[in-house]
Amino acid sequence: MKTIVALISGSGTNMLAIHEATLKGVIANAALSCVMCNIPEAPGIDKAKSLGIPTKVINHKDFVTREEFDQALVNKVNNVNPDIIVLAGFMRILSPVFTSAFEGRIINIHPSLLPKYPGLKTHEQVIKNKDSHHGISIHFVNEELDGGPLIAQGFIKVGDIQNKATLQERIQKIEHDLYPKIIHAILAKEISYSSLGTIYSPSCQIYKNRIYYDF
Ligand code: GAR
Repeated sequence: MKTIVALISGSGTNMLAIHEATLKGVIANAALSCVMCNIPEAPGIDKAKSLGIPTKVINHKDFVTREEFDQALVNKVNNVNPDIIVLAGFMRILSPVFTSAFEGRIINIHPSLLPKYPGLKTHEQVIKNKDSHHGISIHFVNEELDGGPLIAQGFIKVGDIQNKATLQERIQKIEHDLYPKIIHAILAKEISYSSLGTIYSPSCQIYKNRIYYDF
């Protein structure tokens, strides 16, 4: 059985989608072994607890430096020794203390078509700039914010959507569909990490191109 650790800071809908995918076999032979969170009052942590998933809260405010917090996080993750570490709305920048400890084993999901719009308020920027398309990116994590080798992207046409809530809802639907599939492919060794770029097995070539979601 493969083990997954999810790091969250907020509502935890991606974490829930991943958990459900392990139960349904979309992510085969794997379990969400622990949900770790840096915000004690994050709603996602209560959701995880109510499902019986082990949780750990490590409040970043209890540490003087970013590196001290990251080392504490490294220690907690090492106790689980997961096959993969999944950032699911984890809103702390990770220093090399964390990223180099788990190089090639950490992935992130971000609500934009990277390299466009790293950071925050991606939906607002899409609306303000009247972009024709919007989407999500899944990538291996390195020390660069929302950087690291891209793994997959899903996108929609923005069309008439001028409202942040609707855009966010559609974007999250893509996230909940695509993130579990990519986690499965990585655990099945169909997708793997190299510092030079993501490596796809022949059966996973589909993820090399952006995937269009028709809604
Ligand atoms: C997701 O939309 C995810 O892409 C984003 O935070 C949201 C978390 O939602 N992540 C980032 O912006 C990372 N830079 P969730 O807590 O409901 O899964």
